[in-house]
Amino acid sequence: MSAGSARLDAHRRGSTMTQDTKIKYAAVGCGGMGRRHLRGFGALHHSSMANMQLVAAVDTNLEAAQFYASEAHDLYGIEVRAFASVAEMKAAMPDVQAVDVTTDTGSHHRAVLACLEQDLHVLCEKPLAITTGACDILLAEASRRHRVLSVAENFRRDPINRLIRALIDDGAIGEPRLMIETTIGGADRIVITPWRHMKHTGAITLDEGVHHADMLRYYLGEVATVYGETRLHEKVRHNTRSSGPGGFYARYVNSFPDTIEPTGEDAIYAHLRFERGTVAHWVNDHAGHGRGQSGRFVYGSKGSIDSPGDRNGKPVTLHLTGHDPISGAEILEHAPSYRLEPLAAELFGGERVWTYEFEFNATDAKIMALELFELGECIRTGATPEVSGEEGRRDVALTYAAFESGRLGRAVTLDELLQASHGPAYEYQAEIDRQIGLL
Ligand SMILES: NC(=O)c1ccc[n+]([C@@H]2O[C@H](COP(=O)([O-])OP(=O)(O)OC[C@H]3O[C@@H](n4cnc5c(N)ncnc54)[C@H](O)[C@@H]3O)[C@@H](O)[C@H]2O)c1
Repeated sequence: MSAGSARLDAHRRGSTMTQDTKIKYAAVGCGGMGRRHLRGFGALHHSSMANMQLVAAVDTNLEAAQFYASEAHDLYGIEVRAFASVAEMKAAMPDVQAVDVTTDTGSHHRAVLACLEQDLHVLCEKPLAITTGACDILLAEASRRHRVLSVAENFRRDPINRLIRALIDDGAIGEPRLMIETTIGGADRIVITPWRHMKHTGAITLDEGVHHADMLRYYLGEVATVYGETRLHEKVRHNTRSSGPGGFYARYVNSFPDTIEPTGEDAIYAHLRFERGTVAHWVNDHAGHGRGQSGRFVYGSKGSIDSPGDRNGKPVTLHLTGHDPISGAEILEHAPSYRLEPLAAELFGGERVWTYEFEFNATDAKIMALELFELGECIRTGATPEVSGEEGRRDVALTYAAFESGRLGRAVTLDELLQASHGPAYEYQAEIDRQIGLL
């Protein structure tokens, strides 16, 4: 899992690409995140390396697809056709080669499968699917049909996280000993959408937690064992009519109920040991009252790294024993291998940016442009995406490790989780699989 395993040299073709040679793709899922991905298309479209052309929008709610198509026209002047199913879209537009799936988490295994069955290459929002067993269905179909299956894990593509990964790899803090990954907040509010609180549609600890599982693995490599517990603290949650990340959910909040009764856990408390011996403490608590917290720290034998968080462009701070904290450009001296891929360098203003200042929505769009671009390059060259289906499946397995550990009352290995329903640590996920008809 190297930081740039799928970094692709795109300079050779980007600017010469014409409307006809770009890969035609459809957006599947036209809700809040789908519309954020539309802005990602926009960032790619306006770059010198545009390799993908959005031509269709698909949503089981046709009105959502039509609205998406109208936004695409208003924002970028492009014609996008709206459909209510992938099969209809592919029948009407056989030259579409790929899809960008942003349906809600509990539908990924159905929506992505429907795309693969139409021989489409897929970029799927995280988590790849609602259980590791559901992920397996998608991996098998993608492999059988030789289709690209890529997972849109955006946090790691933030240049600041690329820099931190390079600092760790280049030995800036010596041998890593401890990582602390903490998210606490949310109280009894509905976080973004009601489906994010239901076990069989993708509880918030999976839906948001999987980002942190990916960051833990991205920084420090594979996890060996996990001991953990989960909780469902808040039995009733309230609609605060929040417009959500980037303001994209203002359109939907009035259709949500005033209160819901969650069925999915809202907190993970876990202790991890990585294969390299490093340990981590991971708290992902979406029921936190009082002072919210969000922190990511890595401690090593020579110093420590404070992450500023994701998608805010603030500088990283490096603390070395006996030295003043380092958070200016001089931090680059401690990360000689740090270099962004060409499109990221173009969008963020340099190969070795150590800080940036963009509005959240602009940053968000730039990162999604990188995901879309990589999909196009993988289709053209046969390269494996950085967050492949298998990587995405491992992130799902790690997220559920604390759930299964809590059920079994013992530490679990990631290998046990990766065995899915064939292994000894599959109680919690088996309940979901039974409910959605996979077992
Ligand atoms: N990476 C991030 O930062 C980030 C942020 C938010 C959401 N997400 C992910 O994006 C996905 C979507 O989240 P959201 O908040 O946009 O959800 P949402 O509920 O706002 O939108 C989902 C849309 O998918 C449509 N849909 C459902 N099943 C479908 C199917 N089979 N075919 C076509 N359309 C279908 C729904 O009608 C709806 O319009 C989730 O997996 C979520 O985890 C990622």
